[in-house]
Amino acid sequence: MDMPNARSEFVRPVVRAAGVLLAVIALLTGILIWLADRTETRIAANQQSNVSQAIDALLPRGSYDNDLLTDRIQVVAPDLLGTRQPVSIYRARRQGKPVAALLRPVAPDGYRGAIELLVAIAYDGTLIGVQVLNHNETPGLGDAFETREAGWLRDFKGLSLVNPPQNRWTVRKDGGDFDAFTGATITPRAIVKAVRRSLEFYNSNRQRIFTTEVPASD
Ligand SMILES: Cc1cc2nc3c(=O)[nH]c(=O)nc-3n(C[C@H](O)[C@H](O)[C@H](O)COP(=O)(O)O)c2cc1C
Repeated sequence: MDMPNARSEFVRPVVRAAGVLLAVIALLTGILIWLADRTETRIAANQQSNVSQAIDALLPRGSYDNDLLTDRIQVVAPDLLGTRQPVSIYRARRQGKPVAALLRPVAPDGYRGAIELLVAIAYDGTLIGVQVLNHNETPGLGDAFETREAGWLRDFKGLSLVNPPQNRWTVRKDGGDFDAFTGATITPRAIVKAVRRSLEFYNSNRQRIFTTEVPASD
């Protein structure tokens, strides 16, 4: 008759150990979820500050008076903006009048994949400038736009869809007006094409770009 007691003496520590183990697992899971959430928040904050800096580099603060980062819409136009994902467009306005649009297209055909761009276009369709937000191009070769040939991106300023004419909107090697980098043609070719396509998108959608309301969920 002392069997149940013996069993419970054996079972009780096992149940206790299992309880402790479950508590530890729950705690560790909680810590992991918290860490992942914090990392995600930090990455998003870094990306946002990266974009803010790029915007400031292109557009003087005094040239617009709205909150550019929240005056944002998203569009899907894979053929012209280089990605199936929604592309952000920030609208700069001054006293309610449109000043410029800043598009975040992707050059999908870089040497090592996608190159993320920020393309600032004045309301009249001329380019204010171009910044590279993210890329995986080869250091010392495909990343010349940010190192030895850093002035290269500045050459976009003032250009438009008709200046140069469409057939010269490519690198010299392909009969166009744009310099390639030393030993690297693929990267600049991809960027030039993406900028031209952004201008095409802008020109065909200018009215809509400035009149579309910011979605309520943003
Ligand atoms: C390891 C390695 C990395 C390269 N990285 C790049 C790059 O990031 N961007 C680029 O345009 N070309 C890069 N190139 C060079 C290209 O392969 C190509 O030769 C060059 O862009 C000239 O292209 P073209 O012959 O079409 O003018 C790289 C080549 C090698 C071997």
